[in-house]
Amino acid sequence: MSVLERFLLVLVLCICLKRSEGGGRRFEHWVSGIEAAVTTYETIVVDQSGEGNYTTIQSAIDAIPSDNLHWICIYVKTGIYNEQIKIPYDKPRIYLKGGGKRKTYVVSSSHNSIETDATFISQADEIVVKSITFINSYNYPLGSNGNPIMPAVAAKISGDKSAFYRCGFMGVQDTLWDDAGRHYFKLCSIRGAVDFIMGSGQSIYERCTISVIAGFLSPQPGFITAQSRDAAVDPNGFVFKDCNVIGNGTTYLGRPWRGHARVLFYNSTLSDIVVPQGWLDGDFIGTTMNDLVFAEDKCRGDGSDTSRRAWWESRLSMDEIRRLTSMSYIDEEGWIKYQAFNMLP
Ligand SMILES: *[C@@H]1O[C@H](CO)[C@@H](O)[C@H](O)[C@H]1NC(C)=O
Ligand SMILES: *[C@@H]1O[C@H](CO)[C@@H](O)[C@H](O)[C@H]1NC(C)=O
Ligand SMILES: *[C@@H]1O[C@H](CO)[C@@H](O)[C@H](O)[C@H]1NC(C)=O
Repeated sequence: MSVLERFLLVLVLCICLKRSEGGGRRFEHWVSGIEAAVTTYETIVVDQSGEGNYTTIQSAIDAIPSDNLHWICIYVKTGIYNEQIKIPYDKPRIYLKGGGKRKTYVVSSSHNSIETDATFISQADEIVVKSITFINSYNYPLGSNGNPIMPAVAAKISGDKSAFYRCGFMGVQDTLWDDAGRHYFKLCSIRGAVDFIMGSGQSIYERCTISVIAGFLSPQPGFITAQSRDAAVDPNGFVFKDCNVIGNGTTYLGRPWRGHARVLFYNSTLSDIVVPQGWLDGDFIGTTMNDLVFAEDKCRGDGSDTSRRAWWESRLSMDEIRRLTSMSYIDEEGWIKYQAFNMLP
């Protein structure tokens, strides 16, 4: 087909689409689809066998210039990468893409300080990660070594505008430090036993599997979240939407890390591992239960019965639930659709 023929074909297609849709709504979508695809990017390849540009993920990150302007994809081929990796503040617009949640693993056992030690530290804004599992192996898999159980972070996310699709985060205590900024986690698996999703991120977790491994603590329950909103005016909080809570042992949905902790489970399936009380108050950190925003709405499953929940569990208005569960809670200006990759609904 000549260039002209191709052009004419596309033109005819456009006109047909526009006609057949009456108001041309679908046509608009089609055009915006093209706009989204304009985010093109260069790809560099990490391959342990030496057939890519780099053999470690960190050396690929190091090769990206400071204050990077254009999206760049680091494609991490299948394999187990035994390294601690860090995307520093000055390297935004990196799209870290693995070969699959069960194919590309990044593993380390760093645990000396939760401030500086994690398998993956992401400090820059505008980061996308897809199809990679991050493991802190200090205590995980459980019983695989004789180490005492202690905080050992698999990922610490401190930048704004960061999205994670089909990723895994595995650990026992403090697995995912959702530290600061607006974050979108979709179709991810997060595993742990104690405070394993913690921090003051402003995040939506959509269709994620929350996998509790608190059986070894029995009869003590574990804690899924330890959210750390500090003041009533702070916009952060964790929203779990269409998620699945499964696992062994028993668990609280959360306890506060700071006084105004905010967590909402919405339209999620909660298995019988959730303790009837649901939430633990903040006596141990000296907070008032009235300041905590711990809520549930439209959940199902054996652990979703709220009749014996802590009496101070929050009852949010429908408007507030709608506000927290809509994408605009984390994406008012539409940053997600302009990233190198997205899985928006
Ligand atoms: C990566 O490797 C490919 C294939 O060898 C090469 O064409 C490309 O220039 C390399 N890119 C960088 C940034 O080194
Ligand atoms: C809980 O599940 C994890 C992961 O499958 C497993 O390693 C652990 O042995 C289980 N613990 C108990 C007490 O069943
Ligand atoms: C609730 O979650 C289910 C299963 O993930 C999904 O099919 C459904 O659309 C969701 N409903 C609402 C009201 O969000």
